[in-house]
Amino acid sequence: MAHEIGVIPGDGIGPEVIDATRTVLDAVADVHDLELSWVEHDWSCRRYAQAGTMMPEDGLDALARHDAILLGAVGWPGVPDHVSLWGLLIPIRRHFRQYVNERPIALFEGMTSPLRAVEPGGLDLVVVRENVEGEYSEIGGRMNRGFPDEMAVQEAVFTRAGVSRIADHAFDLARRRRGYLTSATKSNGIVHTMPFWDEVVRERAAAHPDVRWDSELIDALAAKIVLEPGRFDVIVASNLFGDILSDLTAAVAGSIGIAPSANLDPTREHPSMFEPVHGSAPDIAGKGIANPIGTVWSAVLMLDHLGHGEAAAHLMDAVRRSLREPATRTRDLGGSASTAEVVEALVAAVRA
Ligand code: NAI
Ligand code: MG
Repeated sequence: MAHEIGVIPGDGIGPEVIDATRTVLDAVADVHDLELSWVEHDWSCRRYAQAGTMMPEDGLDALARHDAILLGAVGWPGVPDHVSLWGLLIPIRRHFRQYVNERPIALFEGMTSPLRAVEPGGLDLVVVRENVEGEYSEIGGRMNRGFPDEMAVQEAVFTRAGVSRIADHAFDLARRRRGYLTSATKSNGIVHTMPFWDEVVRERAAAHPDVRWDSELIDALAAKIVLEPGRFDVIVASNLFGDILSDLTAAVAGSIGIAPSANLDPTREHPSMFEPVHGSAPDIAGKGIANPIGTVWSAVLMLDHLGHGEAAAHLMDAVRRSLREPATRTRDLGGSASTAEVVEALVAAVRA
């Protein structure tokens, strides 16, 4: 089956991990008889410096034609991070109604957690982050700029439709995994939106009686993820809480370099977008040492979403194998392999 993939390499290590992933995906396509075509968009902070915008005016229309979008990372010193984020990533997530951000993480054999009690297999969970509303809202403003009484207000927006659909998605995912869901809340301190979140999640729980679930205050939850990471299966969280928790869970697994994410429009009306959790890593850009696994695992999620479960499982197996071998671990995982060496191992594993 033919698929057209829109590619946005972005900045820093973005183009390095995207090149790596395309090479690996081309091998997967070859072995599994998939037809993947690539349309590359050079939208980035580099473009911003030259043209004044992160993407062209008709950028979203161009993306709408693709079957899926694969993104590296955006952000570069000199361009404020809110400009790169709100000029590209957030418009894509919102315009294409990608209301789910799925962020799986696991501690695979060959990886070392910074927590001494956690062994491979002792962490295997998915953070399901609400991706289009919540705390990341455009409602608010600044007043009295430059005066002593300067102020800023930002409203968090939670809708019944928004909370219901993310909760339903998370319950469904939990049912297909180990049947356990945790809802992240803060209804003790945030007295309007979070009790509402709790209420709607409880309502949706009634429609999923086969999933065991509980609710945890976000601060206590952060501590429990460190103390008892093996306990969790699927964690559903608001935009901000999910953003923070998924960096924490990646750190518990030992490196943000392997963490993937899927921005999904589960209705499939619009293309979904797949990207690693990490950023453009200016400190290691251009050195050829970036870990490509976060992007390759994101491509696994993309293949799954496009209906190629077998190819996805095959590629994931190649990822596991390359992590198991000390010779093909990058520096962030305690090894010394280059990006190219990991790609070589992945391609060999896919073709084996
Ligand atoms: P970062 O994720 O780029 O880097 C944090 C640390 O992790 C750095 O030490 C980096 O070297 C390391 N690291 C990240 N990815 C790695 C990989 N694949 N292999 C090996 N090491 C890796 O986060 P940071 O430094 O906070 O942000 C840098 C820029 O990236 C900023 O402009 C930020 O706005 C942007 N950013 C973009 C994101 C996106 O495009 N989705 C997400 C997060 C940050
Ligand atoms: Mg983040």
